[in-house]
Amino acid sequence: MLGLALTAACTTADGAPGAVGGAGVGDPYFPQAGNGGYDVTHYALDLAYTPEERRLTGRALLTATALEDLAAFNLDLHGMTVESVEVDGARAGWDRAGQELTVRPPDGLTKGGTFRVAVAYAGEPRTITDPDGSKEGWLPTGDGALALGQPVGSMAWYPGNHHPSDKAAYDIAVTVPKGLTAVSNGELTARRATAAGTTFTWRTTEQMASYLATVAIGRFDVTRTSTRDGLPVYTAVDPAETAASRAVLSRLPEVLAWSQDRFGPYPFSSTGAIVDRAGALGYALETQSRPTFPGAPTTRLLVHELAHQWYGDSVTPKTWRDMWLNEGFATYAEWLWEEDEGGLTAQQTFDALYDGTYYPDPADNRAVWSFPPGDPPDAAHISGRPVYDRAAMVLHKLRQTLGDTAFDALLRDWPASHRESTASTEDFKAYVASKAPGTDFTPLWEDWLMGPARPARP
Ligand code: TRP
Ligand code: ZN
Repeated sequence: MLGLALTAACTTADGAPGAVGGAGVGDPYFPQAGNGGYDVTHYALDLAYTPEERRLTGRALLTATALEDLAAFNLDLHGMTVESVEVDGARAGWDRAGQELTVRPPDGLTKGGTFRVAVAYAGEPRTITDPDGSKEGWLPTGDGALALGQPVGSMAWYPGNHHPSDKAAYDIAVTVPKGLTAVSNGELTARRATAAGTTFTWRTTEQMASYLATVAIGRFDVTRTSTRDGLPVYTAVDPAETAASRAVLSRLPEVLAWSQDRFGPYPFSSTGAIVDRAGALGYALETQSRPTFPGAPTTRLLVHELAHQWYGDSVTPKTWRDMWLNEGFATYAEWLWEEDEGGLTAQQTFDALYDGTYYPDPADNRAVWSFPPGDPPDAAHISGRPVYDRAAMVLHKLRQTLGDTAFDALLRDWPASHRESTASTEDFKAYVASKAPGTDFTPLWEDWLMGPARPARP
């Protein structure tokens, strides 16, 4: 499913008519990410990994629709060795330049037609260092590996259209040596012993952005339960973290029930968590249906990552500039949880941030105002503090403007009306305007969301 209408209009061809799909979708921070000219609807990934050799062998089968007549198109793949590429069963020409894998189907592709691309590849998948210094992509662990993809790490382990604007359904099969477990998104549909080890097959039927796909390989303590509503809960915990995680993960159904109360029906068909130690990895990620934590989470962090299932995973940012819609809502969910638990009210949290008394370190309090949340200065700042705290303050100002009743309705209706889709800042502004015609939101957007400095106290 494609949310961003950007294609490049180059012309070339070696025989086949049509354009060459763009090498990026024009993201303001990651211009090479994603590709133009087609829309992936389904990924079938068949992977095998041996931790000792750190060797991944993969076969990716993508089902896609051509958005124009194409002589060639690109996939994103960072590292790995490509062994063959087929389009609709026929050998295709291909070459590589950086993260761009250019594919030339023998007969080209016709606008509107569905096609299947099969890529066979192997190698030691890379760990990617982001512009902000954080690690993602393929992260070896003590007993396996962990794949995390925000913002561009998923291209380290499978070829695809790696931009959040093109969401798709997934089937992910992972074969690992006997004794190890492979965990991914969605539901475990099969677990089979093979000559090579054990194959775990996972299915995600809801649309998923590639940055939310994950695979965790290693020794895990697995629990399979279900919520009172019958939603399957699958948790996989690094045995070193089991004792510390038990109490908080046992609260997952309770946190999910609270979230549904606040944000509306849960958008996916299963839930759970992955707790895995990957070197110095210091962040959690809202991997779809099954958030990943680098160690036993606090309840507050669990609240944050579960809130992302509505804000980020079901409604996904159209570009990486729209990150504040993810982190603002997930951070505001923490404030609401605290308020509902009888701690600080959201207003008190807002005031402490505004007054610069929220964090013990004054530098952290100043960092809240370092740039406008709706317009990070560069790719190194898309996960910066304003994108979390100041964006949550934008939502609190919105609550003050709309009133509690209308804001509570918006918390439920915004994700419901954009379920399994994508949205931009402009979409959100238009949506808010439609809910309160006649209200002037100019100060909210111009000063709080886009203003360079701390707005004057109202
Ligand atoms: N998006 C993650 C969350 O809020 C956190 C995160 C992922 C992150 N990658 C990052 C934070 C890189 C800083 C840098 O749950
Ligand atoms: Zn977050």
